[in-house]
Amino acid sequence: MNEKRSSFTGRIGFVLAAAGSAVGLGNIWRFPYLAAKYGGGIFLLVYLILAVTFGFALMIAEIALGRKTGMSTIGAYSKLNKRFGFIGILGAVIPAIILPYYSVIGGWVTKYLTVFLTGGGSAAAADGFFSAFIGKPVEPLIWFFIYIAVTTVVVMFGVEKGVEKVSKIMMPILVVLTLFIAVYTMFIPGAMEGVLYYITPDFSKFSVTTVLAAMGQLFYSMSLAMGIMITYGSYMKKEDNLEKSVRHIELFDTGIAFLAGLMIIPAVFAFSGGDESALGQGPGLMFVTLPKVFDYIPGGSIIGFVFFLLVLFAALTSSISLMETIVSVLMDKFKLGRKVSCLIVFIFSILLGISSSLGNGIWADITIFGVDFLTFFDFASNSVLMPIVAFLTCIFVGYVIKPQSLIDEVEISGPFKSKRLFTVVIKYIAPVCILLILISSVLNGLEIISI
Ligand code: PHE
Repeated sequence: MNEKRSSFTGRIGFVLAAAGSAVGLGNIWRFPYLAAKYGGGIFLLVYLILAVTFGFALMIAEIALGRKTGMSTIGAYSKLNKRFGFIGILGAVIPAIILPYYSVIGGWVTKYLTVFLTGGGSAAAADGFFSAFIGKPVEPLIWFFIYIAVTTVVVMFGVEKGVEKVSKIMMPILVVLTLFIAVYTMFIPGAMEGVLYYITPDFSKFSVTTVLAAMGQLFYSMSLAMGIMITYGSYMKKEDNLEKSVRHIELFDTGIAFLAGLMIIPAVFAFSGGDESALGQGPGLMFVTLPKVFDYIPGGSIIGFVFFLLVLFAALTSSISLMETIVSVLMDKFKLGRKVSCLIVFIFSILLGISSSLGNGIWADITIFGVDFLTFFDFASNSVLMPIVAFLTCIFVGYVIKPQSLIDEVEISGPFKSKRLFTVVIKYIAPVCILLILISSVLNGLEIISI
C-alpha cells in the first residue's frame, strides 16, 4: 500500500491528540494513590526528576522513531533493523494487558457518574460504600461491560475524532474544575497538613520501590514504552516542531497529575486523619475520598457529576488509544478486518477483565504472587514489562541506530535544544538505572508489589 499516511492538522492537533492518550485515569486515579502511598513529597520529587529526564528522552525517541519511519510500532523497529522488530511486538503486548483492567476502573467511574446523577452523592460519601460496591459480584461487571462496549463501538466505527473533539473542550474544563476542588479542599480543617505531606519531600521515605513505582507511573501516564507514541509520531508532519510538542505534552500530563494529587491527598488528611492506612489504601483512594469532598461542598452533587463525566471522557480517549493500538496490530499482522479485530479485542478484554473485577470480591481469595488480579496486571505491565521495553528502546536508539539518527529527525523541524541531555539519558543514564531497578525489584521478590 502506497497511500500517504494521513497527518494531523498542525502541531496543536498533534499535541492535543497525544495528550488525549496520555491524560487519563493514570493522572487522576493512579498518580494520587501512588503519591499518597509512597511518601507524598518524595514520590512527587522523584517523579518530576524522572519526567524531565527519562520521560522527555523516551518520548522524543518514540515520536521521532515514528515520524522517521512513518510506521507504527511493529514496523518501525524492523524497518530500521530487522533483528530488533521483536521490541515492537513486545511493546504491543502491553496495551492488551492494560486495556482490560483499565476498563474495569472505567466502569467504576461510570457507576459513580450515575450515582451522582441520581442524587446518591451522600450515600457514596459514607464509609464502606466503595468497598461494598466493588465487592459485589455482578454490578461492577455490568459497568465494566458497558465501558468496554462503548470503547469498542467507538474504535469499530472509527469515530474517535468525535470523542476527541468533545474531549478537547472537556479537558480544559477538567483542569479548571480540578483546580477549584483542590483550592476548596485546602480550606477544610486539617487539609493543610496534607498539602505539606504532598509537597515536602521526606528523604527518610526514599527507597528503590519509590523509584520503581514512579518510573512505572511515568511510562503509564505518558503512554510510553508500548508503541503508542511511535504510532502518533508516524502521523506527525515533518515541519512541526518535535521538541516543543514533547515539552507541551509533558507539561499537560504532569500538570494534571499534580493537580489531581493536590485535590485528593489533602482531602485524605481532612477526612481520614491522614493515618497510614488511609494513605496506603491504594486503587480505591479517589473513589473513597472525593465523594466526601463533594458531600462537603455546597452543590457538591452537581460538581461530583460534572467531575466524573469529565474523568470519563479523559479515560475514554485513553482506552480508545489502547484499543486502537491492539486492533491495528491485529489488522497489520494477521490481515484481519477492522470489525473482526475489534470483536476479538472486546472478547479478550472481557475474559481478562472479569478476573480483575471479581478479584475485589468473590475471587478475593485467589491471588497471584500474593496480590489480587488487578494489582497483578497493573504491576506486571507498569513495573516489569514497560521498563524492559524502555530499556530495549534505549539500547536500540543508543547503540544500534545511534542517537544522531533521531537527532537529525528532530532537527528537520528546528533546532534540538536538549540534544546533549537526550543522548546522555538514552545511552547511559536510562539503561543503567532501569536495569538496576529491575534487578533490585526481582531480588526483592514480587512482595514489593504488596507494600
Ligand atoms: N496514559 C493513560 C493514562 O494516564 C493510560 C494509557 C496507558 C493510555 C497506556 C494508553 C496507553 O490514563
